[in-house]
Amino acid sequence: MSIAIAIDGPAGAGKSTIAKAAAKHLGFIYVDTGAMYRAIGLYTIRKGVDPKDTEKVVELLSEIEVSLARDENKNQLVILNGEDVSGLIRTEQVSMAASRVSAIPEVRAFLLNLQRDMAKANDVIMDGRDIGTVVLPDAKVKIFLTASAEIRARRRYDELIAKGEEAVYEDVLADVIERDNNDMNRPIAPLKPAEDSVIVDTSELNLEESIALLIKTIEENSK
Ligand code: DC
Repeated sequence: MSIAIAIDGPAGAGKSTIAKAAAKHLGFIYVDTGAMYRAIGLYTIRKGVDPKDTEKVVELLSEIEVSLARDENKNQLVILNGEDVSGLIRTEQVSMAASRVSAIPEVRAFLLNLQRDMAKANDVIMDGRDIGTVVLPDAKVKIFLTASAEIRARRRYDELIAKGEEAVYEDVLADVIERDNNDMNRPIAPLKPAEDSVIVDTSELNLEESIALLIKTIEENSK
């Protein structure tokens, strides 16, 4: 039987970087489910469809094929209708579209089996918003990885500045809060810790400390 570790938490808690490093250390495959919602968000933008327009987004699903692949360094690639969109999905515009389309039940159903199949076939660390609560309720370890909104906005702001992009901290914070609200208050699969999850708060930790704490928490809870 394969082993699954579920990692959920809000946007910008460093989940993907931290979970990816922990997966490498533990020899698990890292699965970033947010990337799948982002691929659908990107498709709606390309088609000029408002990601809040449920009916139109649902219509588009029949044209969409999303899959995950690995490059030679085992990094996850996101494939949208045969095209590698891994880089294109990492924009603020796609983030917001992903958050919107992820509130649509048909979109979630569309991705659910794909996500479950990956966990059946491999030992995975799967990262998302509803992995411990909906996708893999029987995961061996469930972790809710979080940090305060101000710290998450500060990290995101520093990242944007480091990339040479223009950013205003207050705007980044407003985006973080808006996305939290979307993700936590939607009627379907809202972001919340599973009852049997361990809360890991990285507000006071740097990246290395966060990775070490995640690995320790997984090891302690998977015995
Ligand atoms: O983790 P991320 O920022 O790449 O996720 C993009 C959006 O997708 C985010 O607003 C929430 C949504 N999402 C979701 O609803 N369920 C998941 N399992 C993963 C992401």
